[in-house]
Amino acid sequence: MEKFVIKGGKELKGKVRISGSKNASLPILFASILTGKLRLSNVPDLRDITTTCQLLKQMGFDVRKSGNTVEVESGGDIKTEAPYELVKTMRASILCLGPLIAKYGRARVSMPGGCAIGLRPVNLHLKALSKMGADIKIDHGYITAEVNGKLKGCEITFDFPTVGGTENVLMAATLAKGKTIIRNAAKEPEIVDLARALRKAGAEIEGEGTDVIEIRGTSDLKEIDYRVMPDRIEAGTFIAAVGLAGGEVEMEEFPFETLGAVIEKFEEAGLRIEKLDGNRVLVKKVDRLKGTDIITQPYPGFPTDMQAQFMAAMCLADGISVIKETIFENRFMHVLELQRLGANISIEGNTVVVKGTEKLIGAKVTATDLRASASLVIAGLAAENTTEVYRIYHLDRGYEKMEKKLQLLGADIRREKSELPY
Ligand code: UD1
Repeated sequence: MEKFVIKGGKELKGKVRISGSKNASLPILFASILTGKLRLSNVPDLRDITTTCQLLKQMGFDVRKSGNTVEVESGGDIKTEAPYELVKTMRASILCLGPLIAKYGRARVSMPGGCAIGLRPVNLHLKALSKMGADIKIDHGYITAEVNGKLKGCEITFDFPTVGGTENVLMAATLAKGKTIIRNAAKEPEIVDLARALRKAGAEIEGEGTDVIEIRGTSDLKEIDYRVMPDRIEAGTFIAAVGLAGGEVEMEEFPFETLGAVIEKFEEAGLRIEKLDGNRVLVKKVDRLKGTDIITQPYPGFPTDMQAQFMAAMCLADGISVIKETIFENRFMHVLELQRLGANISIEGNTVVVKGTEKLIGAKVTATDLRASASLVIAGLAAENTTEVYRIYHLDRGYEKMEKKLQLLGADIRREKSELPY
């Protein structure tokens, strides 16, 4: 196991390129099940992508990775199964369910369990796919689905705008018979990216990015050849890093139009974020940040995936910040760890109150989930003395070359072998 050793106190300076989006790459890679052929570029090199490629390989697809491009082609027999061993390491494996039923008429997918940030059921995915005609059973921890003939287009109104649920139904509907209308659909930019990729293969989709998506099923899809959008959460994490460590960083391939709520909140806190030409942005800290409140919400609201990093930034801000989490029921696991660095934070239900302190002091902390680990790393950049972050395998799931990018910006961060069993 590995850990990060961070010597805080260095300002960040220089340029960083934002990698391709993890959360857009995952569903598009699974969309290759529908098309049988895919060439995806700008795919970030990180563990969830490796897991997805492994899953596709195990199903019988030929998967080739070269740099940031992944090519998938269906070879001979396809095994329509996603086993426990892979699903347990990545909940997003559930995104193969819709494509498998739509293309092969059957699927057997291990039920994703809960995770550190909450229960995270998939009931809405299953309800919607059943409505499209799939016969779904849950037995011994596996979801088994079958359809006689093709899935049928229908109207689906989600109780909650679930991102994964919307993606599963969107993909399944491209090969269903007739028209599917998804109401109360999630509007996240990654869904727009998925729809654009599918359209390249001939899918008929309208309304992505709004809460009503209409899909007219076709009998055949061609190859997907697509470049993934930049990762808005990675970009937001680097903004938060500048908010903590200070300095001036130019970000390239910055997905400006997808980060409205995040930019607004960091600007409200006093960070300077200047749009330059050619998808570049200059982020500059000129003064101590001011305490600022956020409420996490579905897109276009403030993303839950930026809550931990924003909280870390508020730990050193002047005044009080109130942070309310409305998407996941247990997404404050980083609070205890930030407290180890000296942060003054209290939790009441789904709300956290941060009283900004003058300084954070390095300590040993343990990452509990992907975004929590990012919050600890960036807090470590601003803490005095040395911070050691354990269980960084969480971070490796979703950030491409995080420590290398930070090193290039002048941070003193090293990956070392952990002396602990984790
Ligand atoms: C996706 C993102 C994740 C992000 C989340 C919310 C990927 C791979 N992951 O996760 O990074 O934090 O969106 O923006 O893109 N729910 C149900 N039943 C369901 C489905 C969801 O109750 O069938 C609940 C969940 O428990 C959660 C909420 O709905 O409380 C949002 O979940 P959802 O939007 O589905 O998130 P994911 O797709 O899992």
